[in-house]
Amino acid sequence: MKVVAFNGSGRKDGNTAILIRRVLKVLEEGGIETELIQLAGEPIRGCNACRTCYETKNERCIVEDDKVNEYVQKMKAADGIILGSPTYFSMMTSEMKALIDRTGYVARANNHLFKRKVGAAVVAVRRAGGMPTFDAINHFFLISQMIVPGSSYWNLGVGNKKGEVETDKEGLETMDTLGKNIAWLIKKTRPAARKKKGR
Ligand SMILES: Cc1cc2nc3c(=O)[nH]c(=O)nc-3n(C[C@H](O)[C@H](O)[C@H](O)COP(=O)(O)O)c2cc1C
Repeated sequence: MKVVAFNGSGRKDGNTAILIRRVLKVLEEGGIETELIQLAGEPIRGCNACRTCYETKNERCIVEDDKVNEYVQKMKAADGIILGSPTYFSMMTSEMKALIDRTGYVARANNHLFKRKVGAAVVAVRRAGGMPTFDAINHFFLISQMIVPGSSYWNLGVGNKKGEVETDKEGLETMDTLGKNIAWLIKKTRPAARKKKGR
């Protein structure tokens, strides 16, 4: 069992990474393998709407000069996908949006590659706009036919300066509970989903 997590922050190892790692620690303790990919500093383009992925149906985006095709395969191989983003002007970062648009379109063009995987959003916020960010990421999971577990609060951590989210006790606890619920759901559902779909 494996969970792959993406950090869409423009800042490596910041608040979003801290929150994601908190979830991943619980997953590892539950015997689930994890991988964290940080998009900071990486070129990642948005979708150019050419719809070539719908013609070729080869699980690839025609844009080959970034790592999106590698990420599609990492998501396809995983049982769970965590998408983490800080809040930028009340929304996810442009890197995370590009990742969602490109991987999401390729997945839909190929018979819903992420169907019945477990998905969770993780959001860092200084003050406001965390909920639209959280909602938009969850919309991606839901239209991808994925299954979304909850936590004891919406999956947000509050902080601004690098590391400040460590002072948000409730936010950290929310990530711990989220980790437990992801692990529970993966163990309950993924063996059957893999057997049925070969995914
Ligand atoms: C370009 C930019 C826009 C931001 N917009 C918001 C915002 O709309 N609302 C908010 O609460 N914080 C906003 N922030 C603050 C970040 O969400 C906050 O610092 C977050 O903890 C950063 O996470 P990171 O350390 O993972 O990058 C913004 C930060 C940047 C750089």
